[in-house]
Amino acid sequence: MKYFNKNIPFNDLPDLPPKKKLETTEILKHTIQANKLLAELKGFCLTLPNPNLLLNTIVLQESKESSAIEDIVTTQDELYKATLDLNDSISNHAAKEVLLYRQAIYWGLEEMQKKDLITTNLMVGIMRKIKNTTQGIRKNPGTKLANPTTGKIIYTPPEGEEIIRKKLATLEVFINDDEYSSLDPLIKMALIHYQFEAIHPFGDGNGRTGRILNVLFLINKKLIGLPVIYLSYYIIQNKPDYYRLLREVTEKQNWQEWVIFILKGVAETSQMTLQKINAILDLKKKSEDLLRQTLKSSYSREFSDLLFSYPYIKIKVLEQHGIAKRQTASVYLQKLAQVKLLIPLKMGKETYYINHQLMNILSK
Ligand SMILES: Nc1ncnc2c1ncn2[C@@H]1O[C@H](COP(=O)(O)OP(=O)(O)O)[C@@H](O)[C@H]1O
Ligand SMILES: [Mg+2]
Repeated sequence: MKYFNKNIPFNDLPDLPPKKKLETTEILKHTIQANKLLAELKGFCLTLPNPNLLLNTIVLQESKESSAIEDIVTTQDELYKATLDLNDSISNHAAKEVLLYRQAIYWGLEEMQKKDLITTNLMVGIMRKIKNTTQGIRKNPGTKLANPTTGKIIYTPPEGEEIIRKKLATLEVFINDDEYSSLDPLIKMALIHYQFEAIHPFGDGNGRTGRILNVLFLINKKLIGLPVIYLSYYIIQNKPDYYRLLREVTEKQNWQEWVIFILKGVAETSQMTLQKINAILDLKKKSEDLLRQTLKSSYSREFSDLLFSYPYIKIKVLEQHGIAKRQTASVYLQKLAQVKLLIPLKMGKETYYINHQLMNILSK
């Protein structure tokens, strides 16, 4: 075992895969369960008539949770208000960061699909989108991970751009070359997430970039078709374990517990995402009857879809999507508020109409 000291840059961080035997009975049990539930979610998404309808809201919730792990906390109100505003007029800093995170997921997905590879450049690109910066791999020494409450150093990542690049290059091979290691892709994802965080290639944004890589990896290995899984929700619910287990891999090669932690996360969040999508589709079906009765001949499928793509909506959005002109759009929204399908909320000069039942499902 190589010597590890939490105050000294961990330039001896070993490459993947770990020497320890990973295919233990316990890990395999969880691997099977996680694969089964993830496959169910994947299959279910394939049957959706219009998957893009749900994608934006689900990806936004994931972006919110992943940012919250880094103490970037925004309220649903601020966030959904921001989704309707132009980028540069968003005053709420946290909401802006969450939207950048969502854009980074989409950008990463597109970029990955060009070459069907997860590369160092892709990683840097994702971080740049999240942080809205032109910075790259850390050049200067001094990056340390500290306990946020006590300020005590818990980990010092490798130092020196050349060393960091070398470790990322090796990680790249492990990620993309399926011949290199025959481990189950979900076990691989757990290893990759640890390794990326341990390399900690950037001055900031490592946690968020690493969590985006998780979902891109699942798509790359065809375990899911869309970035719909809420893995960050699980991580934030279990944040102390997440931090403890990252440390325990470094300090005592406790891969077993770390891998199981991630596998459980995949299983739980696959199930949860599936339930959420189901609940949203049920609600949409139910709402459509009331929508038809209320809007009569003005009802359209596009209008209904819009109310489920934007849980917070305003007159302008109806205008932009060609549903109605300003006056009429305003009447529609008021009618829908009267039958309690939407709840009006005044924020600043603007009134937002909230699909509150949808919000209940999304934020539960
Ligand atoms: N002991 C540890 N070893 C390696 N990585 C860790 C450790 N503890 C936490 N991390 C990772 O570091 C991330 C925080 O790093 P940071 O660069 O600030 O990312 P972000 O800006 O996205 O928060 C955490 O989300 C976690 O993924
Ligand atoms: Mg940070």
